[in-house]
This record gives sequence, C-alpha cells and structure tokens, in this order.
Amino acid sequence: MTLTNQSSDRKREFALSNQEFEKLTGLVHSLTGIVLGEHKKDMVYSRLARRLRELGLQSFDQYCALLDSQQAAKETGFLVNAITTNLTKLYRESHHFDSMTKYLTQVQQDKQRAKGDRSLYIWSAGCSSGEEPYSIATTILAKNATLSSWKVRILATDLDTNVLAKGKKGVYPKSALDGIDVGYKSVIRDNVHIKEPDIHLKERCKSLIHFKQLNLLHDWPMKQKYDVIFCRNVLIYFDAKTKHDLVTRFTKLLHPGGMLFLGHSESLVNKPGDLTLIGQTSYVKETSING
Ligand SMILES: C[S@@+](CC[C@H](N)C(=O)[O-])C[C@H]1O[C@@H](n2cnc3c(N)ncnc32)[C@H](O)[C@@H]1O
Repeated sequence: MTLTNQSSDRKREFALSNQEFEKLTGLVHSLTGIVLGEHKKDMVYSRLARRLRELGLQSFDQYCALLDSQQAAKETGFLVNAITTNLTKLYRESHHFDSMTKYLTQVQQDKQRAKGDRSLYIWSAGCSSGEEPYSIATTILAKNATLSSWKVRILATDLDTNVLAKGKKGVYPKSALDGIDVGYKSVIRDNVHIKEPDIHLKERCKSLIHFKQLNLLHDWPMKQKYDVIFCRNVLIYFDAKTKHDLVTRFTKLLHPGGMLFLGHSESLVNKPGDLTLIGQTSYVKETSING
C-alpha cells in the first residue's frame, strides 16, 4: 500500500486495500465493461461504503467475501447499481435533437414514398433515469407534427435498475427544467403537468417509451432495425475494444441511412467503414451497404 493510500485509509471508516480494490474493479469490469483505474479509488470507496453500512458490514474484506459467497448473484445487482455513473439531464447536447428532427422528417417522407411503412424505432441505450428518452419523445411530439398516425416506439435501456425505476415513473424535480435551451423549454412544458415541487410527464409522451433492463455487453433481443440510436456518455466508461465492438453492433442494428448519436467526448477514431460522421458526434449509416 502506498503512503497516500495509508493516509487516506486512516481517515476512512473502512480500509480498502489495493487487493480488494482490484478484486472489486475486476468484477465490475467483467459485469459491466466499466473500467475503473486507480484514480477512481475514492469514488469506488464512497459509492460502496454506503452499501457496506446498509449491510452492517465492518470491512471491504467482508464485502469481498460476500461477493464470493452463494449470495453473490443477488449482491452483484446492488454493486452495479452503486457503481454506475448516471449523470444526465433533459435535452443534454440539444443539437442532437435538432438533427434528429431533421432526420426523422426525411425518414417519414422516404418511408411513405417507399412502401407506406409508418413505423419509427428509436433506441436510447444507457438511458439512465429517463431524461434522454423523454427528450426524444417530447421533441418528436412537438416537432414532427404529422406523426400522429405513425407507430413510434422508443426503447430505453440501462443496466441500473434504480435509474430505470425513476425513468418509468417520469417524475422529476422542477429544477430539471433549469438550464434547458429556450427552444426546448416550451417543448417540455407542453408535455408535463406541474405538480409542485415536481413535473410529471404526460401519459401521451410516456406511452411512446418502453423502459427495459439491458446490459450492453450481453445479447440484444431486438429483432427489428432502428432508425435512430442514442448511446451518449456511456462508451466513455469502456475500454477501446468494448467501445469498438459496441459501435459495430449499433451500426449493424441501424437501417441503412439510420443515425447514431454519441456523447460529446466520444468521437470515434476507429469507426466501421459504413458509418459516416455528419455532425458533432452524429453519424449516419451508409445507404449503399446493407447491414
Ligand atoms: C452517464 S449516464 C448517460 C445517460 C444519458 N445517455 C445521457 O447522455 O445523459 C451512463 C449510463 O450508462 C449505463 N451503463 C453503464 N454500463 C452499462 C452497460 N454495460 N449496459 C447498459 N448500461 C450501462 C449506466 O447505468 C448509466 O445510467
């Protein structure tokens, strides 16, 4: 153990040895793909110390023993929920919603011309507590006026069951409206009931979204292709190979011409050949290559 670790452990309620840290972060990596380097030790400590207190444990050694025991399967769910970073907000990186609106208007015209297919499939992968899929749904309701006769299905998935439960409720503190770009303030206001101190998303908007638990590292059950996939501020936690594999899988799942939106710091160095950058972390799948 380094001197720095010794001095920070002295102030801590529970000692966290390098060996325990490596065991926990190795398990998190194999379960979720999330990479937690040495610099995340304080974060791991504070997120898991709460869990140790809930369980009435005295040390990380005991917690590691629990994760080796027969109750491990149940505990790993709590471990994952405690470790994930769920930071999100309504209309985060709102330029993506502008691009989506333009894109969907075009898709609607093309689909109508082609074979009268009136369905739109959108996936918010790593949706956290729902602000992203609600931003998608409210934007569609406000800006794609002709959509009333269309089947719009927004799949919202995350690994963390706590945030999914919040998303399903669709209730946020009124402060969630703070800092939203002016153009989108009216969009959200039209789609919520204000019940102090909260906002409640309206049923029409909620009915477009299906929240499901899905680990991106596992198989994906979806059968149909998607028009738009959002996977923003998720890949940043993964290593280069996992990130590349996921982007390849997203691309395969898109309709030719479909769009993929990533987070602001997730531009792709090594992207699939049929994916073209068309705006800030906004990609389109080539129409000439079938996926
Ligand atoms: C920072 S949030 C991003 C939320 C939203 N997409 C946004 O940009 O505002 C990252 C989310 O990815 C989820 N996540 C992390 N690893 C995952 C995995 N292996 N499978 C599915 N979701 C995962 C976390 O639970 C978390 O809610």
